[in-house]
Amino acid sequence: MILVTGGAGFIGSNFVLDWLATRDEPVLNLDKLTYAGNLENLQGLEGDGRHVFVQGDIGDTELMDHLLASHRPRAVLNFAAESHVDRSIRGPEAFFQTNVQGTLRLLQSVREYWSRLEGPQRQGFRFLQVSTDEVYGSLAPDEPAFSELHRIEPNSPYSASKAASDHLVRAWHHTYGLPVLTTHCSNNYGPFHFPEKLIPLMIVNALGGKPLPLYGDGRQVRDWLYVKDHCSAICRVLEAGRVGDTYNIGGWNEKPNVEIVEVICDLLDELRPRSDGVSYRSQIAFVSDRPGHDRRYAIDARKIEKELGWRPAESFETGIRKTVRWYLSNAGWVSRVQSGAYREWMQAQYAAPAAAETLRQ
Ligand code: NAD
Ligand code: DAU
Repeated sequence: MILVTGGAGFIGSNFVLDWLATRDEPVLNLDKLTYAGNLENLQGLEGDGRHVFVQGDIGDTELMDHLLASHRPRAVLNFAAESHVDRSIRGPEAFFQTNVQGTLRLLQSVREYWSRLEGPQRQGFRFLQVSTDEVYGSLAPDEPAFSELHRIEPNSPYSASKAASDHLVRAWHHTYGLPVLTTHCSNNYGPFHFPEKLIPLMIVNALGGKPLPLYGDGRQVRDWLYVKDHCSAICRVLEAGRVGDTYNIGGWNEKPNVEIVEVICDLLDELRPRSDGVSYRSQIAFVSDRPGHDRRYAIDARKIEKELGWRPAESFETGIRKTVRWYLSNAGWVSRVQSGAYREWMQAQYAAPAAAETLRQ
C-alpha cells in the first residue's frame, strides 16, 4: 500500500480518488482535518476496504511510527500542508508548524522505518514531496519559465515554509540516502477546491451575488493546471522518477487573473444566467493588493515530458468548463464548507477598511 498525507484536502482527495479508480493498491490516508480537510470529498470511497483513513498530524511521531510499522507502505506521498498564501500572511506560525516542523518529524519517522527495510522493499521505497512553483519566487514578464534549476527565492511565508521543507527533503536524501522525489507544480483548479482560493471563490461569490475581489490591478499571472493532471503527473513521478530529482509540473497555461475571472463569468452567463440578464462580469471588484504579491509564475515542464513522457490531458478551456459545472452540481458541498469558520475568514480577509473597493460597471 501507499501512505498519503493530507488526503482529505483538495489535491490529496483528488489523488486518492483517482488512484483507487485506476489501481487496486490500497491507500492509507493520514490527515489532520484542519479547516481545509474534508471527509466529504472521500464519500465515494465509503465501504471500500482499499481506503483506510486515520485522523492525525504528520508531526505526531508516535502515531506515524506506529502507522508505518503496522501498514508497511511502499511509498509515502506528502501532500499535507497549510496551503493558502493569504492565511500565511495573516498568521505564519501554523505554516512553519506543519510545513517545516511537521515535515521534519515525518522525515525522521520515515527514515527510521525505511532503514529497517531490506532487499527489494528497501530499494523500491520512495518518499514523494508535493511542492509548489512558488518556491522559485516571481518572474518578470519577459523571463523564461521556471526550470528545475531556477534559484529558490520564496517571497511569502507560505512559500518560505514550503522551500524550507523541500530543503529538508533534499538533505535527508543527501545525508541519509532516503530515496526521495520532489515535484513543483503550478496553480491547480478543479473539484473539491476550497473556496478561499481564486477560482472557487469567484464561482461561489458570483453565484451568491457577491463582489468578485481581484487584488491590485488583476494582471498577476499564474500557470493553471487541472487537478487531475497534477495527480497523473505525481503517479508518473512516483513510478519512474529518478531518486533525488525534482520535477516541475505545469499546464503551459499562463493567464492573468482578470482573464480567469472573466472566463468564469462568461461560463456562468452561459450555464446559469443571472435572473436580471446582467453579466456576472458586473460583479468584478478591484480591491487592495496582497502584500508582497508575486507578479508571475510559469512552469517549464519539458523535463517531465521528455524524461517521463507526461503531458496534461486537459486544456484550460475544457478544465475550467468541467470545474464550473462541478460547482453548479455540488451546491450542497459548497454550502457545507461555508461554515462559521469560513465566514470568519471571509470577513477578516475582505472586509478590511483599507480594501477601498471600486466596483467595475
Ligand atoms: P489543502 O489546504 O486543500 O489541503 C491540505 C490538507 O492537509 C488538508 O486536508 C489538511 O487537513 C491537511 N493537513 C494540514 N496540516 C496537517 C498536518 N499537520 N498533518 C496532517 N494533515 C494536515 O491543500 P492543497 O491545495 O490540496 O495542496 C496539497 C499540497 O500540494 C500542499 O503541500 C501544497 O503546498 C501543494 N501544492 C498545491 C497547489 C495548489 O494549487 N493548490 C499547487 C502546487 C502544490
Ligand atoms: O502556484 C502554486 C500555488 O498556487 C500553491 O502552492 C498554493 O498552495 C495555492 O494556494 C496557489 O497559490 P496562489 O497564491 O497563486 O493562489 P490563490 O488562489 O490564492 O491566488 C491566485 C491568484 O489570484 C493570485 O495572484 C492572487 C489572486 N487573488 C486571489 C484571491 C484569493 C485575487 O486576486 N483575489 C482573491 O480573492
